[in-house]
Amino acid sequence: MNAIEEAVERIASATRVLILTGAGVSAESGVPTFRGGGTSTAWRGMPFEQLSSAEMVKRDLPLVWEWFDYRRSVVAGCEPNAGHKAIADAQISGRFQEFTLVTQNIDGLHRAAGSIDPIELHGNIHQARCLSCGHLASLSEIPNDERPPVCPECFDSMRPHVVLFFEGLNEDDLLAAYEKAARCEVCIVVGTSAVVYPANMIPQIAKREGATVVEVNPEETELSPLVDVSLRGTAGEVLPRLLGA
Ligand code: OAD
Repeated sequence: MNAIEEAVERIASATRVLILTGAGVSAESGVPTFRGGGTSTAWRGMPFEQLSSAEMVKRDLPLVWEWFDYRRSVVAGCEPNAGHKAIADAQISGRFQEFTLVTQNIDGLHRAAGSIDPIELHGNIHQARCLSCGHLASLSEIPNDERPPVCPECFDSMRPHVVLFFEGLNEDDLLAAYEKAARCEVCIVVGTSAVVYPANMIPQIAKREGATVVEVNPEETELSPLVDVSLRGTAGEVLPRLLGA
């Protein structure tokens, strides 16, 4: 039995499945990844980590909005690919008793493909959040020239609803992801370098609790030595074969 057949068999007999995705699942849609490849890591001469930081929100919120509006314009023309669709179809088919999608991506492409209630650990680039009361709003409801947007509830400024460098993740989301990781029988890890904490704990928890861990990535990662099945290919090629049964 080859690696993909082995993975398909394990998935076929599972009732609880968790999928963790990273930037690689959106690569075939044209969204640049963070690591690897020739991606630019600076904008207007400023390093990515400095722009996307909690410090910059305090120092220059309009600049942070400019940067995220730019990033939104990059993903605006991108469509979900066969990988996103295979994940959404597996959930919608209802063939698993429990199906959890956890993503580190902020691009919204899983929702666009039809995935229901993905846990978006790093937020969503299409939403704004009030600095004071935490109210969430879709940017489609806010005029493009209202920067920073004004909270309709308390009239304070809003920021992008995205986890920035030196910020913690939403605790409820993280706990929910950890609980599902501990319960799943198969954990499929797609398109992540698995170097960013705490998302990279998810497959480790799954493995520790006895799940089969399957990795889909054209390259080896820090996670590769831990996984049960490594599928070396792109999300768009591999996921339809893996989940299409
Ligand atoms: P990375 O850019 O670190 O890793 C992308 C991974 O995708 C690499 O391992 C590639 O080999 C793989 N890859 C590339 N093309 C692929 C394809 N077509 N199919 C499948 N895999 C492919 O992205 P993440 O691991 O998601 O956080 O990065 C984690 C976090 O680091 C991001 O969410 C972001 C960043 O700091 C925040 O912004 C908070």
